[in-house]
Amino acid sequence: MITAGPTYEKIDPVRFVGNYSSGKMGFALAEECARRGAEVTLIAGPVQLSLNHPGIRRINVESAEEMCREAQAAFPASDAAILCAAVADFTPVTTATQKIKREGDELLLRLRPTTDIAASLGEVKQPHQVLVGFALETHDGEQHAQSKLQRKNFDFIVLNSLTDEGAGFRHDTNKITLIDRTGGTAYPLKQKSEVAADIVDRLAECISNSTNA
Ligand code: C5P
Repeated sequence: MITAGPTYEKIDPVRFVGNYSSGKMGFALAEECARRGAEVTLIAGPVQLSLNHPGIRRINVESAEEMCREAQAAFPASDAAILCAAVADFTPVTTATQKIKREGDELLLRLRPTTDIAASLGEVKQPHQVLVGFALETHDGEQHAQSKLQRKNFDFIVLNSLTDEGAGFRHDTNKITLIDRTGGTAYPLKQKSEVAADIVDRLAECISNSTNA
């Protein structure tokens, strides 16, 4: 199971809170897993991407809440989950039913935290299941990634830094460090399809270790 892309959190019928995630990394991972014979469930936020592989079942969602529902439903039957989506951490407390008018000097938007999908799956993860997370950091990346790894019960985490040229949102390339409890391995800047292959190689190692354990 793979989550990909951003989520949109509705403010009113024409506006949302979102982010710059393109979904490219998650889609590259879905294609790489399917190419190697996996049956993939791809839970995608709103993205401008298409794919056509018989091994990929795509479920389109918009909000963090919808993504959470689909991910929690698909996870128990999955051998592994890669949580690549840039899920909104906050959503409007209320969604206006009509377009909000431009009035007054300021508009206050009240937001509440969304469910942390990764942490919720980390809590129910079984010993044979492998959980992979992503972290996009602007500073102290390895330290933050290590604490996220523990907190969300990931087997390993893919760290990409916003400060690296050509890495992260919207680019076709990415520069990652794979971090597990024993430390980190840094990779050079590569096409996202090649980065996907590196991540799936590590995932395959984890799956064979967990089935041999
Ligand atoms: O805490 P942070 O948002 O940086 O964690 C990133 C990781 O957690 C990513 O793997 C992301 O897909 C996942 N996540 C999630 N649900 C959220 C927030 C993050 O699954 N609400």
